[in-house]
Amino acid sequence: TSTPKAVIVIFGATGDLAKRKLFPSIYRLYLNGKISEDFAIVGVGRTPFTSEEFRENVKRSVNNSEEVDHKVDTFASHFYYHPLDVENVESFLELKDLLGNLDEQYDTEGNRLFYLAMAPQFFGPIADNLKNQGLTSTNGWSRLVIEKPFGHDYESAKELNEQIRAAFTEDQIYRIDHYLGKEMVQNIEVIRFANAIFEPLWNNHYISNIQITSSETLGVEDRGRYYESSGAIRDMIQNHMMQMVALLAMEPPISLDAAEIRSEKVKVLRALRSLSEQEVNDYFVRGQYGKSVINDQELLGYREEKSVDPESNTETFVSGKLMIDNFRWAGVPFYIRTGKRMKVKSTEIIVQFKDLPMNLYFNKGENVHPNLLVIHIQPDEGITLHLNAKKGDGLATSTPIKLNYCSNCGDKLNTPEAYERLIYDCMLGDSTNFTHWDEVALSWKFVDTIAQVWEKEKAQNFPNYESGSMGPKESDGLLDKDGFHWWPIG
Ligand code: BG6
Repeated sequence: TSTPKAVIVIFGATGDLAKRKLFPSIYRLYLNGKISEDFAIVGVGRTPFTSEEFRENVKRSVNNSEEVDHKVDTFASHFYYHPLDVENVESFLELKDLLGNLDEQYDTEGNRLFYLAMAPQFFGPIADNLKNQGLTSTNGWSRLVIEKPFGHDYESAKELNEQIRAAFTEDQIYRIDHYLGKEMVQNIEVIRFANAIFEPLWNNHYISNIQITSSETLGVEDRGRYYESSGAIRDMIQNHMMQMVALLAMEPPISLDAAEIRSEKVKVLRALRSLSEQEVNDYFVRGQYGKSVINDQELLGYREEKSVDPESNTETFVSGKLMIDNFRWAGVPFYIRTGKRMKVKSTEIIVQFKDLPMNLYFNKGENVHPNLLVIHIQPDEGITLHLNAKKGDGLATSTPIKLNYCSNCGDKLNTPEAYERLIYDCMLGDSTNFTHWDEVALSWKFVDTIAQVWEKEKAQNFPNYESGSMGPKESDGLLDKDGFHWWPIG
């Protein structure tokens, strides 16, 4: 059915993610008729709250992001709060009773979605109690949604996975990577596989390199404690960036089945050239932002941020080169970069095609501009194709032109938010845009070598990039030595 029924239990309901993303997304599903009145939300957290207070919080969080709406009171009436101590069996039994009652009251057919938006050390005990206290034994479905960080490295991720798998099967587990919920990330597949003009060229015969940038202007803000143990490599590369690489590089799946798509992505990650410790610094560059003044505003350097070690070795910027050693991609570098406090907030993919074998036209004495396909993920959603055309001056010259398509420039409100899609997909049982354990495992293994080398060899040059820049100059050097350069973004 297209209007799924369920009780959604949010662990960590007093946290930031619930307030900023989850409540507004569920509200939009409700307003858009994606879910009917047959749902209830139970917020779970350590802080004692009454359901009344919780509803007030919910209303505030949705009113911030949506126009005030008369439906908000009815919406909030579906919310309940249950204080819970993760270690305490009794409180799980109470929660079980509550869920049983809500099942009846809202006619949710025993369908339960458990959303874990908490620190990973609680995932295991929660999953265990959900199963062993019988909260998952209903006539309907039970699904577990897990937020990042999914472990700190391969070993801890594996342990975490085993704990969860003791209570839930792989097909009940939905590991969120919110980039997979973004409109234009989902569009990568369609652009590639629904266009006769791209798919035949999508290989090492015609593509010279691919560049993926996800830059942010904000610093770490209040997340110093988390970020110190994560850094950009675990925060962004292991998940979001590598997921985009997998989608760009995978073979056409035989169908749009979740299992088919995920298995093609896994194959890409298996073909990633793994790095030896000695190679890490040839393929990857790290950076950390220093303090600076932008528009008369003083910005703290990373080392001065709250809960950050004044001599921190944590990277806030990473760029790197990935090689995919398979038939399609041998020899084509995938350059990725991401960082905090950069020049623009933007996520963009640039596919650079190879030069033609012979250049007949002049372009101010230079070679013709290479063809680029730019996929704008955010803030703009769209694509730009860079071509060459005749200059209107009667000479044999060419000039670069752009074909532009922007899908969110008109009515922005129509594009659902990443979380909105993903919650809905999970309610429908569609795991396509969630990461399979095999993907998580392979990307951790790749990233572990880099993280280990960087932990062992402290960066001597931190801080090494200014706020408002595109990262340290070594990041340019990375492409320079291959005869390429980063194309401007944003
Ligand atoms: C999160 C990271 O996963 O992604 C954050 O933990 C980062 O550090 C965020 O800011 C970026 O997401 P988006 O959707 O704003 O590009």
